[in-house]
Amino acid sequence: MDIAAALVPILAAHPARPDALLPILHDVQDACGHIPDAAVPVIAKALNLSRAEVHGVVSYYAHFREEPPGFHVVRVCRGEACQAVGGAALAAHAAERLHDGDLTLEPVYCLGLCALGPAVQIDETTLHAHVTPEKFDALIDDLDAAS
Ligand code: FES
Repeated sequence: MDIAAALVPILAAHPARPDALLPILHDVQDACGHIPDAAVPVIAKALNLSRAEVHGVVSYYAHFREEPPGFHVVRVCRGEACQAVGGAALAAHAAERLHDGDLTLEPVYCLGLCALGPAVQIDETTLHAHVTPEKFDALIDDLDAAS
């Protein structure tokens, strides 16, 4: 992917001001799947920021990926309500299960299913409630079978 070419319409759609950084990063990730290293200096120059400032924002927010995602993105909720009903154990189980392969495991800090935790999101579209380690394994098995 030509990062510079991909950035042209994104940068044109936002004001060239530092407060546009987050919306620009969201658009870059939507377009590229992650924030490529090569995008950082281009964004920094366009917004009159340092590379370190842009990189600091990318690395601060768990939402932003610095590497391309796997074939599927699995988000396990680490919010307080989910932690209170087994979310930490589920996250540990998920990390063990997905330590390599085509799936990307990411934390998220609320999926809007607080009364139905632990909650998991697979890709951008599918939410799952009351996810036990066993249910998690079944969900991943289904993904593997569909691939
Ligand atoms: S805290 Fe997990 S869904 Fe809200």
